[in-house]
Amino acid sequence: MQKLVVANWKMHNPPLGPWKRFRAPKNVKTVICPPFPYLMSVKRAIKGSALGAQNLFWENPKGGGAFTGEISANMLTGLGVEYVIIGHSESRKFFHETDEEVNKKVRVALAAGLKVILCVGESWAMRKKGFPAAKKFVAKQLKYDLRGLSSVVGRLPVRSQAQAGKSSVTIAYEPIWAIGTGKADSPENAAEMVQFIKKTLFAKPYSLNPAVLYGGSVNPKNARAFLSRKEIDGALVGGASVHAKDFAKIIKTIK
Ligand code: PGA
Repeated sequence: MQKLVVANWKMHNPPLGPWKRFRAPKNVKTVICPPFPYLMSVKRAIKGSALGAQNLFWENPKGGGAFTGEISANMLTGLGVEYVIIGHSESRKFFHETDEEVNKKVRVALAAGLKVILCVGESWAMRKKGFPAAKKFVAKQLKYDLRGLSSVVGRLPVRSQAQAGKSSVTIAYEPIWAIGTGKADSPENAAEMVQFIKKTLFAKPYSLNPAVLYGGSVNPKNARAFLSRKEIDGALVGGASVHAKDFAKIIKTIK
């Protein structure tokens, strides 16, 4: 399976000069997720990578609506955005985003034809209780965040249905304590959790076969250890994705 590596620039605005020279190799799929105001310039400057957004709003009325500060799914697809990150722990933390809200965003994104990168992951307090507790927490997030997905998928045209079942949902396992801390999870644990997520989603009621990524302090030094594991389909990279050079080094670790 082709590895998927997603750059989450968070609230950064790197100079695009070095990015203009960046080309994703054929064996890797790359997605660049800049802040909203830079979507168009990134689309123009970076060739060979898909465009992703870092969030969206759960209402999507035709012609817009009275939701100050928000961005709709239609606005994103109108710009040529293909992917959207939903449920990032920073959105959950700073905006108190609930699983119910995450679920509404997932549904609206899929119905609009966007590919969803859903972030899940446990806190350190949870992980300290042991890996089984962390798994239980992640399973609960998946349950609530993906609730009613089949009804959304069911209402889509046949082609989109097939897409939604196969590749429209990507999961990023991001243990909160590993994000932006320089303390990545161990590749063994990450692979075990990724495998657990796949098994959970393959079964009913989900019947999904998503790509499952690892995220949390992935950098040029440790990337190979995560990306060489067959269970892990790719990475969601934050800090080390802002500079084209670092991101290119991460991509290069993939055989
Ligand atoms: P990090 O962030 O790579 O800086 O830890 C990952 C993320 O937030 O997606």
